[in-house]
Amino acid sequence: MVCLGNICRSPMADGLLRRKVKEHNLNVLVDSAGTANYHVGSQPDHRMIETAKSRGTNIHDLRARQFSKKDFQEFDVIYVMDESNLSNVNQLSAGDNEREKVKLILDELHPNEKRSVPDPYYGSMHDFMDVYDLLDKVTDVIIEKIKNGEIR
Ligand code: 4NP
Repeated sequence: MVCLGNICRSPMADGLLRRKVKEHNLNVLVDSAGTANYHVGSQPDHRMIETAKSRGTNIHDLRARQFSKKDFQEFDVIYVMDESNLSNVNQLSAGDNEREKVKLILDELHPNEKRSVPDPYYGSMHDFMDVYDLLDKVTDVIIEKIKNGEIR
């Protein structure tokens, strides 16, 4: 799961998918990173932590790190939150094989519509709740696709 800062959207996506992978007893490694290095080592934004907690998902243990070229080798699927993340991650890819791993996460809900998970950083608590709801929905779809073999 990749966003810009790795303190709002991608740790939320990471926390939700980790929780659901565990609940479904799936053997899947989930992690997140940011394309920027501003917040490396930081906890998720407190507004995202609070929103997550109020809905029963813990993300306070996560720490921000920067996406690196090595992640292309480590992971089979790389979900990005918006088109800016997509272009930043694609710039680090070493060819078609790596580029094919990179997907806009909301394409799993709305194929080919190129929708973005809006950046809530300068927004209100309402915006954080909207991010939670979107990522909750899309991680349900991802879990189903892992279970039926569409994502592997
Ligand atoms: P994120 O949100 O990419 O969802 O983690 C942001 C966090 C920090 C900044 C921008 C977006 N920032 O400019 O510091």
